[in-house]
Amino acid sequence: MPRSDPLDETTDFLGSQGFSTARFGLILGTGFGRCVRAVEQKTVVPYCAIPHFPVSTVQGHEGNLVYGDWGGASVIVMQGRIHLYEGYDIRQVAYPLEVMGRFGVEILVLTNAAGGLNPSYEAGDLMVVRQHVHPIGQKQMGELTEETAGGPCYDDAVRASLLQISIQRKRPVRQGILAWMPGPSFETRAEISVLKSLGADAVTMSTVPEALAARRIGMRTAAISCISNVWTGRAGETVDTDDVVSTVEDSAERCADLLIGLVHRMSTRA
Ligand code: HPA
Repeated sequence: MPRSDPLDETTDFLGSQGFSTARFGLILGTGFGRCVRAVEQKTVVPYCAIPHFPVSTVQGHEGNLVYGDWGGASVIVMQGRIHLYEGYDIRQVAYPLEVMGRFGVEILVLTNAAGGLNPSYEAGDLMVVRQHVHPIGQKQMGELTEETAGGPCYDDAVRASLLQISIQRKRPVRQGILAWMPGPSFETRAEISVLKSLGADAVTMSTVPEALAARRIGMRTAAISCISNVWTGRAGETVDTDDVVSTVEDSAERCADLLIGLVHRMSTRA
């Protein structure tokens, strides 16, 4: 008997729970979980109930897959994400993206908490990612970097829309280069200095593997970082995870407002 495809099993199950086609996808990182409040007529399924789906194990990640109506369009939301440092490999991190692809997601927004490296950044700032660097992790992400080498990961038009919407709302976002580090511990002073010398504006432990997976699938992707802490480079600097979560929570509403604006704009234009 032919073995069934895990993706078929996952999507069939989600279909039985009320999931259907969606043009937009959203991954909510640390502290962004409350953005889900903006989703109406929700179907909420915990990751642990979904066949073949990886489960988030980290503080500040609720671990629900949500389907619903977002500013008049259908959306699939990951409320909490999967990190490589949780012991998952790149295929497992990419799996939820494959699932979203099966439901027709074309436009994907990734959110994350990030440490600020640019000296002009302040905690609570939102930064739209222009490009990324991952000075280490070539091996972990190998399969995806090789297959998709070179091409841009972040969609210029979606990024420009986010910027314009933020200006209209009189709270302009930053634009910058995001560095990926494997975690789970925060960076050392020496690593911070290396990342700054590479021109990175912020550093995170997520998002880049997902952006690579989304590029392979052909999604138009944007990423928004909330600067949860700022690295000045002084000796003895530490970061408290509770502070990271609460700083992002304070900016999550502003991010949700930006995202609703994006859905309206993308639904009426491209
Ligand atoms: N480094 C990496 N990831 C992070 C940070 C940081 O300083 N803050 C929030 N996520």
